[in-house]
Amino acid sequence: MANFDIEATRAKFPALKEDQIFLDNAGGSQVLGTVIEAISDYLIKSNVQFGGGYKASKTSSSRYDSGVTAGAKFLNAQKDEIAFGSSSTQLLRNLSFTFEFQEGDEIVVSAIDHEANIASWKDLAERRKLTIKWWVPPGKEKGETNPLLRAGDLKALLSPRTRLVTCTHASNVLGTIHDIKSIAEVAHTIPNALLCVDGVAYAPHRPVDVKDLGVDFYVLSWYKIFGPHVAMLYGSRKAQEQMRTLGHFFNQHATLENKISLGSGYYELVQSLPPILTYLGPPTSGSWGSFDVQESLLQTTLLDYLNSEPDTITVYGERNTDGRIRLPIISFKVLGWDSRELVEELERTTNFGFRWGAFYSNWLVNEYLGLGSDGVVRVSMAHYNTLEEVKGFIAAFDAVISKKPN
Ligand SMILES: Cc1ncc(COP(=O)(O)O)c(C=O)c1O
Repeated sequence: MANFDIEATRAKFPALKEDQIFLDNAGGSQVLGTVIEAISDYLIKSNVQFGGGYKASKTSSSRYDSGVTAGAKFLNAQKDEIAFGSSSTQLLRNLSFTFEFQEGDEIVVSAIDHEANIASWKDLAERRKLTIKWWVPPGKEKGETNPLLRAGDLKALLSPRTRLVTCTHASNVLGTIHDIKSIAEVAHTIPNALLCVDGVAYAPHRPVDVKDLGVDFYVLSWYKIFGPHVAMLYGSRKAQEQMRTLGHFFNQHATLENKISLGSGYYELVQSLPPILTYLGPPTSGSWGSFDVQESLLQTTLLDYLNSEPDTITVYGERNTDGRIRLPIISFKVLGWDSRELVEELERTTNFGFRWGAFYSNWLVNEYLGLGSDGVVRVSMAHYNTLEEVKGFIAAFDAVISKKPN
């Protein structure tokens, strides 16, 4: 494995020179300097509609094409299996309008997901008179703090009428990694059933191979993967056979992009993706391995502290620090403190950027975990965070919570 040079890594992200410690990376990551340069360069040199015969248009076409190639490569997909959109929420909404399921068909929807992977399916079910079977992990009544989507529990929710299963690879609140490969195997025991996975929280931390996972649809947002505000959906060629197109009648309908990316869009953003792949390296490269080691160190440090105060601090999600089962997205609550009050108290005296709330996983936080609208405190780290930052956070946090009797 390549040595991880944290200073050299941080130097590649211009924003990390600012007077702010970024611990809200599940909300959005900082952007690589090479990405910023690529966007600026495109806008200066080739900001025209692609597809024309003149020089600038040819440059624009080829730069956009490199972006699509990079996006597909990132997930081990084909170019015609990738579509871009303004956000994952919008791509899933568009996707939901392409399915022509029949009245009485069933869809299984994970209840602990971000609302992006819930609302569109609820709406689809109402529109087409489908039955929703909610996938609620066991243990809610007993106060389970680490709800898990398990393939074994999915089995009981399937029937010959199941057309779609939706779930998250890792929750943006809990950080626990789900075994998507096993979930895909179980979902596909039903002929033609599709599996749509939200990879938004997972993809910034581990390489994703959609073919190996066996998913039909997989969505992610590049603004959390060191890039700009553009999102990407994968849809396998086979799964696309079950989609109608939303595109204009006179256009081609051959690719996922033809089917759901409406109008022109995001040229400068899509063409800025290749530098992200250059930075991350291929899945088997040392760089992913070294990011993993760094993130494990950070999450172990924070979790060891939080776990050492079990009477005062409740961790939501996996308490185990092992990077194979969780990501460095860590949510918790402190006895005697409103989450908001705690975050605001630290904001007054420090430059740690972190947050409180439900993070659009409202059913999970409010109903399953039983927390009010105040929600959890979430600290979410990336490989460019330093051990000193995390230790500094723990010291400042501990000083604040020690001030107030429970
Ligand atoms: C797990 C998860 N899914 C979906 C989304 C929605 O992504 P977007 O903002 O691209 O719609 C988010 C955003 O925070 C997320 O964390």
